[in-house]
Amino acid sequence: MKLLQLLSLTLVNSWTSVALPDHGNSGAIDDFQANCASIAPKINIENATVYFSQFVAAGTNLSIPDRNVTCGSPYQVVSTHTCRIALYVSTSDRSGINMEAWLPANWTGRFLSTGNGGLAGCIGYGDMAYAAGLGFAAVGANNGHNGTSGGAFYNNPEVVADFAYRSIHTGVVVGKEISKTFYGETHKKSYYLGCSTGGRQGFKSAQDFPEDFDGIVAGAPAFSFNNLTSWSGHFFSITETNTSATFVPTNMWPIIHQDILKQCDALDGSVDGILEDPMLCNYSSTALICGPTQNSSCLTPLQSETVQKIFVPLYAADGSLVYPRMQPGSEIVASFLLYTGTPFPYTADWFRYALYNDPSWDPATLNTTDYANAARINPSNIETWKGDLSDVRDRGAKILHWHGLMDGIISSDNSPRYYEHVSQTMGLTPSQLDDFYRFFRISGAGHCSGGDGAFNIGQNLNSAASLNPEENVLTAVVRWVEEGVAPETITGTKFVNDTQSLGVDIKRNHCRYPKKNVHRSGDAKKPESWECV
Ligand SMILES: *[C@@H]1O[C@H](CO)[C@@H](O)[C@H](O)[C@H]1NC(C)=O
Ligand SMILES: *[C@@H]1O[C@H](CO)[C@@H](O)[C@H](O)[C@H]1NC(C)=O
Ligand SMILES: *[C@@H]1O[C@H](CO)[C@@H](O)[C@H](O)[C@H]1NC(C)=O
Ligand SMILES: *[C@@H]1O[C@H](CO)[C@@H](O)[C@H](O)[C@H]1NC(C)=O
Ligand SMILES: *[C@@H]1O[C@H](CO)[C@@H](O)[C@H](O)[C@H]1NC(C)=O
Ligand SMILES: *[C@@H]1O[C@H](CO)[C@@H](O)[C@H](O)[C@H]1NC(C)=O
Ligand SMILES: *[C@@H]1O[C@H](CO)[C@@H](O)[C@H](O)[C@H]1NC(C)=O
Ligand SMILES: *[C@@H]1O[C@H](CO)[C@@H](O)[C@H](O)[C@H]1NC(C)=O
Ligand SMILES: *[C@@H]1O[C@H](CO)[C@@H](O)[C@H](O)[C@H]1NC(C)=O
Ligand SMILES: *[C@@H]1O[C@H](CO)[C@@H](O)[C@H](O)[C@H]1NC(C)=O
Ligand SMILES: *[C@@H]1O[C@H](CO)[C@@H](O)[C@H](O)[C@H]1NC(C)=O
Repeated sequence: MKLLQLLSLTLVNSWTSVALPDHGNSGAIDDFQANCASIAPKINIENATVYFSQFVAAGTNLSIPDRNVTCGSPYQVVSTHTCRIALYVSTSDRSGINMEAWLPANWTGRFLSTGNGGLAGCIGYGDMAYAAGLGFAAVGANNGHNGTSGGAFYNNPEVVADFAYRSIHTGVVVGKEISKTFYGETHKKSYYLGCSTGGRQGFKSAQDFPEDFDGIVAGAPAFSFNNLTSWSGHFFSITETNTSATFVPTNMWPIIHQDILKQCDALDGSVDGILEDPMLCNYSSTALICGPTQNSSCLTPLQSETVQKIFVPLYAADGSLVYPRMQPGSEIVASFLLYTGTPFPYTADWFRYALYNDPSWDPATLNTTDYANAARINPSNIETWKGDLSDVRDRGAKILHWHGLMDGIISSDNSPRYYEHVSQTMGLTPSQLDDFYRFFRISGAGHCSGGDGAFNIGQNLNSAASLNPEENVLTAVVRWVEEGVAPETITGTKFVNDTQSLGVDIKRNHCRYPKKNVHRSGDAKKPESWECV
């Protein structure tokens, strides 16, 4: 936290493009506090009701008692003097969003919207604190419902519409107004930061609301959303329950992971436990098949078939692709999420409440008819698969797309597929796309965070190893938008035992697709030992 605060000041000082009043003196802070206390009645926005405004002093461990218990910790440390405004905005006669604006005293003139995760209706307080701490006027909304389940979608397509597109867009339109009212001037540039469902929301904005942002950071996007949900659910039909002969016990997955590394780790030139291009890995589990005497570290032929099925793409009855395969490398984490022998909860909720309006629908019956139904019903066009990004390009906005190659919940193979889709739809080569859309594959990174490799790339508060734009996706997109300096690579960091105070373990320059990292020579933990080719 201390390091982040320190870096945040450096960033504010060197990045500020707007003349700032001197916030160092207490008079300015008194003014800021008074402005915050009196802001509510000045906010006159159609459909919006302000609940409260609250001054939060730098260093406060903010208590958020009305946060839904399923959303996680009801505390957030706030690193900078902030005016916190909470409000409700109705979006239809039977739906609405709860949202907040976090307006820092040290405003840089920049606006930023955060996103959400999973099916959840949870404000991303960590992202709000990250952005406000860097001087952005930040907003976050609850995506139209509270809590992590999809129950609120039941018989209410308006709540689904909020989830698919309207929560983010409304939050941005309202948030920009609030920011203007509070600071007395319009923001200079507008940004987006999100991962997973948040990554999908970033692309939804790029596809359908090109005016909303000048720079978008979209991580591990849950786009092709209906098909992704079918794919997430189909693993249960492969593994079946944990008493079935097809089920692969959890203790086998680390052994399978080692076997995958044995077959594929050297393909990038370095045996370091990290796959730089899992798409090259055609894994065969036959070497793990038990000999005459079965034991706890081998697979029966039936279990080996299960493993093979997990690593092939999912196809529809008509032979069309539903969703790419799970990429090899992520299996230890995925075994706790997708290969557990129980139905995937988001799939169950999405089909029951958003697609079929039938709470009794049994996720164990998921089949190709359901895949087709999901793709056809596609409520509020949540699929988020439009390949034409010319509107966002034409206004000069920039998109930084990234995906962890150890993602155990959304296969990273789907991200290059979208990139190719845009390339084909727009008729642009990668070097032409580079002008406004860049995609980075982050080796050794799990779903949004964590992993065996250099996964800290500034994607969130806890992964901000550095604010240097070479090493931070958020400051990289700001530099791209405001100075025209586009990111060539994104340098990631892994700390020793994932503990910052223990020092750096690995640094690696992650390549821009379609380039991939190849080890040339020297210490694989050093970035200069690798080359993007
Ligand atoms: C914030 O306060 C809560 C409740 O006292 C505590 O559990 C949490 O650890 C605190 N967070 C920090 C970073 O101090
Ligand atoms: C705001 O920035 C000034 C320098 O520009 C710094 O002295 C002050 O500590 C910052 N305040 C906060 C709360 O970050
Ligand atoms: C206010 O909400 C109504 C629906 O309840 C909607 O038709 C209208 O467009 C909304 N106004 C704004 C400015 O969003
Ligand atoms: C959702 O939570 C907010 C507080 O974060 C609360 O004001 C609102 O009433 C809740 N909405 C519902 C439908 O429970
Ligand atoms: C909290 O979230 C859960 C799961 O989404 C939901 O069932 C519950 O109604 C929510 N509680 C409140 C008080 O809104
Ligand atoms: C198998 O699944 C059941 C219920 O889903 C659970 O209670 C049990 O602990 C599981 N057994 C093992 C060995 O994981
Ligand atoms: C994996 O299979 C694909 C398609 O058959 C092939 O292009 C690729 O070269 C194979 N990779 C390896 C490492 O054998
Ligand atoms: C288990 O069986 C496999 C395949 O026959 C064999 O390679 C392995 O050494 C055995 N492991 C143990 C612990 O006996
Ligand atoms: C989704 O799956 C259907 C088959 O169920 C397929 O026709 C469609 O092309 C897929 N959509 C995407 C974006 O992959
Ligand atoms: C899928 O399951 C439903 C019932 O759960 C059934 O009506 C349908 O015929 C099945 N489709 C296929 C292709 O088996
Ligand atoms: C890192 O963790 C490992 C295993 O928990 C431990 O053996 C090692 O001492 C730790 N390294 C440092 C520098 O703390």
